[in-house]
Amino acid sequence: MSTEGLEALVREAREAFAVSADSVSLEDAKARFLGKAGSLTAMLKGLAALPPEEKRTVGAAINQAKQAIEAALEARRTALAESALAAQLAAEAIDITLPGRATDVGAPHPVMQTQARIEAIFRSMGFDVADGPEIEDDWHNFTALNNPENHPARSMQDTFYVDAQDASGKPLLLRTHTSPLQVRYARAHRAEAFAGKPIRVIAPGRTYRVDSDATHSPMFHQVEGLWIEEGIGFAGLRGVYQSFLEAFFEDSDLELRFRPSYFPFTEPSAEIDLRFARGPLAGRWLEVSGAGQVHPEVIRNFGLDPERHAGFAFGIGLERMAMLRYGVSDLRLFFENDLRFLRQFSTLGL
Ligand code: DAH
Repeated sequence: MSTEGLEALVREAREAFAVSADSVSLEDAKARFLGKAGSLTAMLKGLAALPPEEKRTVGAAINQAKQAIEAALEARRTALAESALAAQLAAEAIDITLPGRATDVGAPHPVMQTQARIEAIFRSMGFDVADGPEIEDDWHNFTALNNPENHPARSMQDTFYVDAQDASGKPLLLRTHTSPLQVRYARAHRAEAFAGKPIRVIAPGRTYRVDSDATHSPMFHQVEGLWIEEGIGFAGLRGVYQSFLEAFFEDSDLELRFRPSYFPFTEPSAEIDLRFARGPLAGRWLEVSGAGQVHPEVIRNFGLDPERHAGFAFGIGLERMAMLRYGVSDLRLFFENDLRFLRQFSTLGL
């Protein structure tokens, strides 16, 4: 084999390596030159047939060519590995200049702030705070509250019924008011009441009616109040309610008015109106609660003795209180979850 022949072979190998676009074809090309059946290997085998003086020179030349081919192979391997890595890095690139995702800080909803505020005020006056089921049975929601079946007063509260029944076969319903909590709480504390301990409780929570306009929502909140104690009457109710309103509105110049009304579970019954002396609502009577002396029939359904136990109850519309306190004119704003509206209450605290 001539020196030119070897040089041509090295060139040929370099070209073959250069056009190998990936490691598989590069290894194929390598086999053609350096493999068992490769051209260079064949030449090395051919050495045996040469006379001894040629063996050394030709052998050295073949070895040189082999080293040149191996060096070219190694260089191409490195180049291919580098470009594969560069391609992978480009494919998996992360744009670290994207701004991060901010976490918003939450805040209590204005209706919940109002509820917490009312709870704190009544607790400070010695009231317990209770809750109960939103899916109620007919007895607790209506019958026990002296609202007999087919009584027209039931139509005052158009109701959502649930596709399930109580033990007597009547459909369960979404409570239309928090008043069933009067019954549940008083019955649970019956023994204490017979032992002479007063029942003093408020029960805030969600209530439901088939109703929807600027001042009514199908879901809304009430706070029920109940005070059963010997000798307690309208004067007690008036005192408690006045103190509550003064604390709630941070205003000791407001006036209270009891307007005769009707509720099946109280007798006599009243609507409580409020009038501010100052502020944007000054001078107008604003209705804030239903109230009354608990009806003897209801006292009996509490499991108590109407001869011994008497007291008063009231029902506050929670959204109504929030609207008056914050100057909100449309109740639906509380439930639309528009952050531009809700954010305005996030720093107000309780
Ligand atoms: N439950 C009544 C309603 O939803 C509100 C109410 C009125 C509650 C008078 C009372 C009460 O406790 O004494 O319309």
